[in-house]
Amino acid sequence: DEAGISEIYAFAIELARKAGRAIVDGSSRRFSSAAGFDHKKNTADLVTETDEAVEALVKREISTRFPDHAFIGEESWAAGEEHALGNQVTWIVDPIDGTTNFVHAFPYTCISIGVVIDSVPTIGVVFAPFMDTLYQGCLGKGSFMSSPHHPAPRRLPLVDPTPLDDLRQALVAFEWGSDRRVEVLERKLDCFRKITGDPDGGIAGGKMVQGVRSVGSAALNFCHVASANLDLYWEIGCWAWDVCAGIVIAQEAGAAIVGSKDHAAQATQGDEFNVVTPAVLTGRKYTVIRAIDTDKAKN
Ligand code: IPD
Repeated sequence: DEAGISEIYAFAIELARKAGRAIVDGSSRRFSSAAGFDHKKNTADLVTETDEAVEALVKREISTRFPDHAFIGEESWAAGEEHALGNQVTWIVDPIDGTTNFVHAFPYTCISIGVVIDSVPTIGVVFAPFMDTLYQGCLGKGSFMSSPHHPAPRRLPLVDPTPLDDLRQALVAFEWGSDRRVEVLERKLDCFRKITGDPDGGIAGGKMVQGVRSVGSAALNFCHVASANLDLYWEIGCWAWDVCAGIVIAQEAGAAIVGSKDHAAQATQGDEFNVVTPAVLTGRKYTVIRAIDTDKAKN
């Protein structure tokens, strides 16, 4: 019910800030001891002691406060806890989204906390502790941002974006992800070529967007689209914890989330490089677009 959702929402915000402090503490320990990161599937897929410690903290706090709720987290999943999404209220958490950034002290790092209720992503909280910026959204209640300059939450987008009629006017987030196998990389390179290529310079199908950014955090890309700092975010290969919170925040700010049949088919086959769990959550949608005619953008 409404009161229950408000309680979960307030708790998620408190928890994101607490986890953020643990991320900052973890970074000072890491840089003083030079300890603690490891590779998962390849050298571009990192996990740190802090990812694991923060996930354990968040999981513990949730189960103490809401013992009936389910939990899906990036590191628990990696450790073999592959829970499918059921009927329970489910928290979907990436303790550090932007782990590579964290390892390099590049400040685009955040904790991403999503809550799914009745199979619908309902609450999203993304906190970037090094920038002390919090994004929050709740289904039907809008999304908001608070930062040191503006501690009181401000509704997103901060200004009404002017609708674009062409991708040539767009600033686009494009992420490479950690999966660089040939068949995956080819698809990313194809898309990159298509969105950046100059059709007048001989790139067939080129859309010649104004600029491309790869800041290295899926959740923050969603938040930038929600803020209308970015017009579009494209990626393949995300997982539920990368997108759940961001989807709520972006949708509540008026962004559209779109997908492709091709990827949907692969997702249902459980292809590991695809949008496996988000597919279940969102109807296999993975590209976020704001302020653009989505039919045009899909092409
Ligand atoms: C990754 C980041 C990255 C995106 C990858 C994600 P992680 O999350 O969001 O920007 O390209 O798809 O997996 O591994 O840092 O939590």
